[in-house]
Amino acid sequence: MKLIIDTDPGVDDAMALFWAHAAPEIDLIGLTTVFGNVRVDQATRNALVLCDVMGLDIPVAEGAGQPLVLPPFPPSAYVHGDEGFGDMPAMTPTRAKDPRDAVTYLTETVCAHPGEIVVAPIGPLTNIAAAIQADPEFAGNVKQIVIMGGGLKGGNITPHAEANFYHDPHAAHFVMTCGAPIIMVGLDITEEVTCVPADFAAMAAASPKHGQMLQDMSHFYLRFYAEYGLEGCGLHDPAAIIAITHPELFEMKRTGVSVVCEGDEIGRSVPSDEPTVDVAVGGDAAAIKALFMDRIGTLP
Ligand code: RIB
Ligand code: CA
Repeated sequence: MKLIIDTDPGVDDAMALFWAHAAPEIDLIGLTTVFGNVRVDQATRNALVLCDVMGLDIPVAEGAGQPLVLPPFPPSAYVHGDEGFGDMPAMTPTRAKDPRDAVTYLTETVCAHPGEIVVAPIGPLTNIAAAIQADPEFAGNVKQIVIMGGGLKGGNITPHAEANFYHDPHAAHFVMTCGAPIIMVGLDITEEVTCVPADFAAMAAASPKHGQMLQDMSHFYLRFYAEYGLEGCGLHDPAAIIAITHPELFEMKRTGVSVVCEGDEIGRSVPSDEPTVDVAVGGDAAAIKALFMDRIGTLP
């Protein structure tokens, strides 16, 4: 199926993009970028660098540098490193970004292929909300929106809120209640899908370019998790992409979801009534991890 990933690369974003590239079920047709793990200009640069590594000449359209309503956030450099790929230095891509902004690229492409395109936001939902506001047909034309974000059991950036929803709660609430066909892949399952240093070493051995790059950027990311006594790091973004091709590995609950937009619990996902979405509340974490590693291992 045709897939556009909206991303803030980001270590686990890189894992997600490489896995999508390796997946025979997926035709990765474009990327849009958003602030979050890094500034949006860094996200665009990093997305173009990942396209160079994958050998993909696809549009990379730059999106929002700050939330819809809240003031700008500092990047999550303490998790993903100053340049977004852990300790790795900034790299210069061979290509330029697409001349269109993210909203123009998303609305033009989805409008031109109604019912065909899956959009997978794995960063704050600012671009997706803006696309829905810009084109009232977008929510009806998109085949599916598969989101890495939220979590019904709690948060990571605060005890209540997952980072992507926290970084733009207004956009998250708008998208989650827009009525589009949505799968929300949140912390309820993604925190169960983890890789330890030996897993990255195995992927590097199997995949000298892609796997090695993931190992190179994993050290900083793993150290962040180790500060909380966790041996492995969360495969948040790749789990969302795997939910597109292998939904049978996930336990889905159909419910409405709203997002708290003020106060101490800002960014929290709250079960609600209509419109309903599919929320991944669990799954076969071992199988998801194995599928991730196996397919990364097929890359050069
Ligand atoms: O909470 C995890 C999410 O926030 C992931 O998408 C990660 O890349 C960060 O953007
Ligand atoms: Ca991300």
